[in-house]
Amino acid sequence: MGFLQIQLTNLLAILVITASSKSSLSATPPNFPIALKPNCTDHCGNISIPYPFGTTEECYQSHDFFVICNQTFDQPKVFFWNSSVEITEIKLDGQLRVLSFIAHDCYNRNGTSASYSGTLLQMPSFLTVNNTANKFTVIGCDTDGFIVGQWLDREYATGCIAMCSAEDDLTEGSCKGLGCCQISIPKQVWQVNLSLTSFHKYHSNVWNFDRCSYAFLVEEIAFSFSPENLTNLRNVENLPVVLDWAIGNGTCVEAQMNASSYACKSVNSKCYKPDNGYGYRCSCLEGYQGNPYLIDGCQDVNECEDPHLNNCIDIKHCVNTIGSFHCHGESLAFKLAAEISLGIIVLLLVAWWLHLGLKRRRQTKMRQMFFLQNGGMLLQEKISRRERSSNTTTIFSELELQNATNNFDNIMIIGKGGFGIVYKGFLPDNRIVAIKKSKEVDPNQIEQFINEVIILSQINHRNVVKLLGCCLETQVPLLVYEFINNGTLFEHIHNKTKACLFSWEMRLKIATETANVLAYLHSAASTPIIHRDVKSANILLDQTLTAKVSDFGASRLVPLDQTQLFTLVHGTWGYLDPEYMQTNQLTEKSDVYSFGAVLVELLTGKKVLSFDRPEEERGLVNLFLSVMKEDRLFEILEENVTREGNKKQLMKVAMVAKSCLHVKGNERPSMKEVATELEGLMLREKHPWVPTGHDEEAKGFLLDGEFSGAINVGEDNSTSIGFDSAKNHVMLLTMGGGR
Ligand SMILES: *[C@@H]1O[C@H](CO)[C@@H](O)[C@H](O)[C@H]1NC(C)=O
Ligand SMILES: *[C@@H]1O[C@H](CO)[C@@H](O)[C@H](O)[C@H]1NC(C)=O
Ligand SMILES: *[C@@H]1O[C@H](CO)[C@@H](O)[C@H](O)[C@H]1NC(C)=O
Ligand SMILES: *[C@@H]1O[C@H](CO)[C@@H](O)[C@H](O)[C@H]1NC(C)=O
Ligand SMILES: *[C@@H]1O[C@H](CO)[C@@H](O)[C@H](O)[C@H]1NC(C)=O
Ligand SMILES: *[C@@H]1O[C@H](CO)[C@@H](O)[C@H](O)[C@H]1NC(C)=O
Ligand SMILES: *[C@@H]1O[C@H](CO)[C@@H](O)[C@H](O)[C@H]1NC(C)=O
Ligand SMILES: *[C@@H]1O[C@H](CO)[C@@H](O)[C@H](O)[C@H]1NC(C)=O
Ligand SMILES: *[C@@H]1O[C@H](CO)[C@@H](O)[C@H](O)[C@H]1NC(C)=O
Ligand SMILES: *[C@@H]1O[C@H](CO)[C@@H](O)[C@H](O)[C@H]1NC(C)=O
Repeated sequence: MGFLQIQLTNLLAILVITASSKSSLSATPPNFPIALKPNCTDHCGNISIPYPFGTTEECYQSHDFFVICNQTFDQPKVFFWNSSVEITEIKLDGQLRVLSFIAHDCYNRNGTSASYSGTLLQMPSFLTVNNTANKFTVIGCDTDGFIVGQWLDREYATGCIAMCSAEDDLTEGSCKGLGCCQISIPKQVWQVNLSLTSFHKYHSNVWNFDRCSYAFLVEEIAFSFSPENLTNLRNVENLPVVLDWAIGNGTCVEAQMNASSYACKSVNSKCYKPDNGYGYRCSCLEGYQGNPYLIDGCQDVNECEDPHLNNCIDIKHCVNTIGSFHCHGESLAFKLAAEISLGIIVLLLVAWWLHLGLKRRRQTKMRQMFFLQNGGMLLQEKISRRERSSNTTTIFSELELQNATNNFDNIMIIGKGGFGIVYKGFLPDNRIVAIKKSKEVDPNQIEQFINEVIILSQINHRNVVKLLGCCLETQVPLLVYEFINNGTLFEHIHNKTKACLFSWEMRLKIATETANVLAYLHSAASTPIIHRDVKSANILLDQTLTAKVSDFGASRLVPLDQTQLFTLVHGTWGYLDPEYMQTNQLTEKSDVYSFGAVLVELLTGKKVLSFDRPEEERGLVNLFLSVMKEDRLFEILEENVTREGNKKQLMKVAMVAKSCLHVKGNERPSMKEVATELEGLMLREKHPWVPTGHDEEAKGFLLDGEFSGAINVGEDNSTSIGFDSAKNHVMLLTMGGGR
């Protein structure tokens, strides 16, 4: 009977809609100790400082948690030790709220007069930016804001652009690119720097109402855009940001091996891995509450005191026990009532069950609809057509791919991007593959996915990574690519040891291959294709250093979809066509621009965007164009390149790059012209007898020979298409206020 009573109350609790939301930690003062010793302060003003945090060496768990309580202000303030970052709230369950600065860039009519960018906090690895609570926000009418940080142990950079041309463009509460843009932060991001720049030439006509641009990280609920923020944010010093904290940087198992340093000191506590960030956290077992980091910190909850926590029909019969409670001998009247309710219970259960069944069926139906909506059928059709034409595409079962990736184990992750996650997988036939999985069921991501398949099913080229197959059994299709094992061009250029071995000849060969494949995409394929995200991290290299272009998720078949105005831009910082800022369209010539940036990267060995360089040199393209103007090219070339390259040839390649980087798209050469030119340069180096004075002739010759060669590829099994965003150092996220 006791069982039934519990059932009844549970059921009622469910049906009466669980409105009993848990009260916030800070709302009521805790009735259990939170500091280590009686002599340790557990608050500063009204901000509580729970252990492992503390204000003296005896009081904190490790130096990471050393905070200062500064009483000299009207209202005492808490700071991280040795830092000016103010903490406004510390929660025991792993979050804290800090006040972050606002990067700004303020100008007068003759240009930038004052700008400030910087580091949020020299964050040690125990602090991670909370990925759900915060948004990176950029405000301005001519503003390109970026956030650069660490993502796991790699570099991470993303940003968004806020543009407007008239005050009427701005809408209260709307942050979709007009005057304001916002993007999410992925998990595992720490040590962030914020910065912004402007495209001054577009600025003069908006000067009347926009004098400053801003970029900041902010707790989403604490900021809502208003057109007035273009001016009034200047008076705001900082905005709240939620950080996740954890202990140490090892896993629970590793931490438990050393009992003296293991932080979950309380009996009745347990260790768990945080959703975001390194390290581990502690929590009290169910039925206990308090501070799990203190010996005896977790104390029994008296469930009988809180009607939400016990389900006894009469509170008088509730008996609290350690870690739990029970309802002692409820009276006869209650038993009778319970018995009468039995029928009702059964009825309710049946109703509930029916409801669940209906809901589930509706869900399945919705999933199917969703799949169809997003081109699932089209995908299926394309795949099956591909299968008929060539025997290369396989339909994998979900189980096969689960086995290949050890059930999508995190250690198999080799890359992440705006679109999803890439896993390395081992097939039973010993083939190694890269499996791309959309992160969430976000319509935008599915669309990109299907886009990629559709695009790839139309390309047949040896310099494109090969799509081996896909899996349609999952709600979100999984794509399987050949695994390209020699890393990205980005690594070969920027990893010091690899760069030493990366000869100029090889660099030029890879550039030529890439130019050729882009030319092929723009002209040789049945419908022209714009890659839209050409960058060194998207050019993979195989064992023989043959270029394999990857990541067609953002690609589009021309003509461009006009409805895309002011929505997602897929280019990556430093590679993005500046003309996009005016037209909001990416064209073939945008690929030419991005390719130009890659060419400069190959020539100079420098990153396209680097915060280690002085402010005016952060963008490699600008640096390159200014040295070209001053005829100082050879000062910025990579050592190897200068040593091995023929000066005249290097100069010519630099001229090609310069022409690709022309601000006006229609003054840039076509990709085909670029490819031809590079091939000519490569050939002339090998065969100096090729006449140099008759470029036109040489071009014609090359066009006949090489280009038709490019079309031929793909008949045999050397054809390849594919992907492995694997080792993107600079992680690409989609930008703009698309969400
Ligand atoms: C607290 O501080 C007082 C005075 O400084 C000292 O006498 C006492 O022993 C301290 N108590 C503990 C538990 O450390
Ligand atoms: C602390 O007090 C100030 C001023 O009374 C108030 O604005 C703030 O919200 C309080 N903070 C917390 C965590 O209760
Ligand atoms: C408290 O803040 C004031 C003003 O910023 C500063 O001068 C002082 O050094 C701080 N005190 C401590 C103990 O950090
Ligand atoms: C603490 O701050 C002082 C002064 O800014 C600096 O000299 C010192 O290196 C800092 N210590 C650490 C561990 O960051
Ligand atoms: C901008 O121009 C005005 C007058 O033309 C001049 O007084 C002022 O110093 C200039 N400001 C800067 C930052 O160059
Ligand atoms: C952030 O800026 C600091 C100081 O300028 C620099 O040391 C650090 O490397 C930067 N971090 C990243 C990820 O660029
Ligand atoms: C943005 O502007 C609105 C309207 O003036 C103002 O209420 C709000 O506080 C501003 N936001 C910030 C963060 O200052
Ligand atoms: C983890 O901590 C150890 C010891 O403090 C340190 O050597 C190691 O570099 C840390 N790892 C990361 C990823 O921070
Ligand atoms: C365990 O942790 C303590 C305190 O951090 C440290 O001194 C000791 O060296 C560690 N022992 C081992 C075996 O790692
Ligand atoms: C981010 O913060 C929210 C509270 O603001 C919390 O519920 C959530 O769990 C945090 N996310 C992670 C990944 O820790």
